[in-house]
Amino acid sequence: MIYDYLDCTVQLAPSNTQGLVLNNPLMTASGTFGYGIEYGDLIDIESLGAIICKGTTLMPREGNSQPRLIETASGLLNSIGLENIGVDAVIRDKAPVWAKWRVPVIVNVAGQTIDEYTEVVKKLEGVIGVSGIELNISCPNVTAGGMQFGADSKIAAKLTKEVKNITGLPIIVKLGPNVTDITDIAVAVEEAGADAISLINTLKGMAIDLKAQRPCLGNISGGLSGPAIKPVALYMVYEVANAVHIPVIGCGGIICAMDALEFLACGASAVQVGTANLLNPHATINILEGIKEFMSGNNIKSLREIVGTCLP
Ligand SMILES: Cc1cc2nc3c(=O)[nH]c(=O)nc-3n(C[C@H](O)[C@H](O)[C@H](O)COP(=O)(O)O)c2cc1C
Repeated sequence: MIYDYLDCTVQLAPSNTQGLVLNNPLMTASGTFGYGIEYGDLIDIESLGAIICKGTTLMPREGNSQPRLIETASGLLNSIGLENIGVDAVIRDKAPVWAKWRVPVIVNVAGQTIDEYTEVVKKLEGVIGVSGIELNISCPNVTAGGMQFGADSKIAAKLTKEVKNITGLPIIVKLGPNVTDITDIAVAVEEAGADAISLINTLKGMAIDLKAQRPCLGNISGGLSGPAIKPVALYMVYEVANAVHIPVIGCGGIICAMDALEFLACGASAVQVGTANLLNPHATINILEGIKEFMSGNNIKSLREIVGTCLP
């Protein structure tokens, strides 16, 4: 179907001079879609709203020991541990490909120290093909950094401010559920200048191999994703969208268009699809089609009419 008359555009960085306009709200969640390039022959990459690449660190990382992925009831536990090629290889090998696409690519950045985050962001500043940064302050699968920056509102705000001071690129801060009060952290990063907030990263968990009498994952614990976490993610998005005035990006367990629409109703301006990509590389495109069908069937001309309808 042709739904050209529908307005699905989203501005994710309204206060940023560079802005971050997406043609539609469908983004691929970091770590579940590689660098996008791997999917080029499978789907029409440019019909996505945005691509978020694998978490990127200053130096390449090998990640955690195997096994690193295990299926659970309606979910997936991963303990990849931020395996990635490092920022220099991203700039050298990936960005030139991204530069030819009309779809914005956002680099997910991780680090063990605030200096590492800022070093990576400095290198990405001005690189053609990079449209924004997602600060991953919520990775549960690394021993240093990651989640520790997102669990304390003061540290989260300090990191956000330092990154904002050195770049004009739009900054999305990615929050995780393994915290006492996610709204505290959301408000702190908003005050520190974040352009948008994405949530949620995975929930820390474990699985047991009874036969071997040991944890299934080489790292013992991992991050839970997939449909099992959707109700948790929805509620957190609802709470955060209620507490901040910057765009919120919802993520966690989105498999179909109805899931995505629920996040939009809870105040998300856009959504990220993660685990569903591993089941079906067309998931994001199918979800986008489903949202457009829903809009057309309900005489909704602009996506903005749906955002936040369930908020108090
Ligand atoms: C295999 C795997 C790798 C991931 N790697 C990253 C990462 O590098 N950076 C990050 O911020 N989130 C990472 N995530 C978390 C996802 O981006 C997403 O926040 C989470 O999976 C919840 O969404 P979902 O239920 O749709 O998968 C990863 C998730 C999975 C399953």
